[in-house]
Amino acid sequence: MSVTASAPGKLLLLGDHAVVYQRPCLVTAVDIRVRVEITEQDTDTLDILTPELTARGERRTIPLAQLHQERRRETAFVEAAVAHVFEKAQQQRALRIVTHSAPRSYGLGSSSAVTASTVAALAALLDLRLDQKALFDLAYAAVLDVQGTGSGFDVASAIYGGTIYYMRGGAVIEPLDVGDLPFVIGYSGEKVGTVNLVKQVARLRDCHPTVINPLFDLIHTITDQGRDCLLRRDWAALGDLINIHQGLLDSLGVNVPQLARLIFAARSAGASGAKLSGAGGGDCMYALVDETSCAAVKAALRHAGGEVIDQKLHAPGVCIV
Ligand code: MEV
Repeated sequence: MSVTASAPGKLLLLGDHAVVYQRPCLVTAVDIRVRVEITEQDTDTLDILTPELTARGERRTIPLAQLHQERRRETAFVEAAVAHVFEKAQQQRALRIVTHSAPRSYGLGSSSAVTASTVAALAALLDLRLDQKALFDLAYAAVLDVQGTGSGFDVASAIYGGTIYYMRGGAVIEPLDVGDLPFVIGYSGEKVGTVNLVKQVARLRDCHPTVINPLFDLIHTITDQGRDCLLRRDWAALGDLINIHQGLLDSLGVNVPQLARLIFAARSAGASGAKLSGAGGGDCMYALVDETSCAAVKAALRHAGGEVIDQKLHAPGVCIV
């Protein structure tokens, strides 16, 4: 028997970093999909094939009895996801797992998408009949196993898709009926490690709690007001909130020149709001545009050295394909 699942990437709209500290965030799913194909086989091993390993003529083979031992970097999220589903199912199977990802993920959540797809495909193969929250709990536990940290917003986005209002650990996961989103994504060209930036912000908060905690409270207010703006499609007010949020992320020290160039280029070309998305340090930013500014903003982002990522937003969550 064979099952394939696919899951989207994500774009964090509001709440970056503050979501690690029990404040909410807003995230939309991006249709850059990861696919995971799981087939039962007649061995006593788990064989994992990823584009990266296959390009080197390699594969990861783990005897089932050793599944909980040391994980290999390239397949760690798949290994952790399988271990959690096996534990939930109270059974193990010999499997061949093939992952297919887009050629480039732009820091838009390929690890969470591969984890979500693996959990969903394996749960279906074992006929576990789990709802979205149960899939989320398994996938989030797997991501925490590998990364040791993270709010889980990216996992929730991969599972639920669409646009959601989220609080750490899945305490709140509220799908929002927002329709088309007028955002343009720009990639800075630099891929970054989220964990180090989260640690950098944690250090700042440890040193200056009375400054940084109120700053997170402000991001919370912006996220709540931004949610209302999105729902009533009040783009002018949302643009202001996005720009104020960017200022607060600058205060946290996570902006970098290559992102700042894109943000200012987008605003100068007519975007009513522009901010980085995610941990900062590189990866992506997004701009709020309208029909008259959209083409000029895309041109300005390219001229400033960025890559425009033309992918559908508010994309469907994990599904069996
Ligand atoms: C990273 O993409 C977003 C952060 O808020 C970390 C997290 O939520 O896990 C910085």
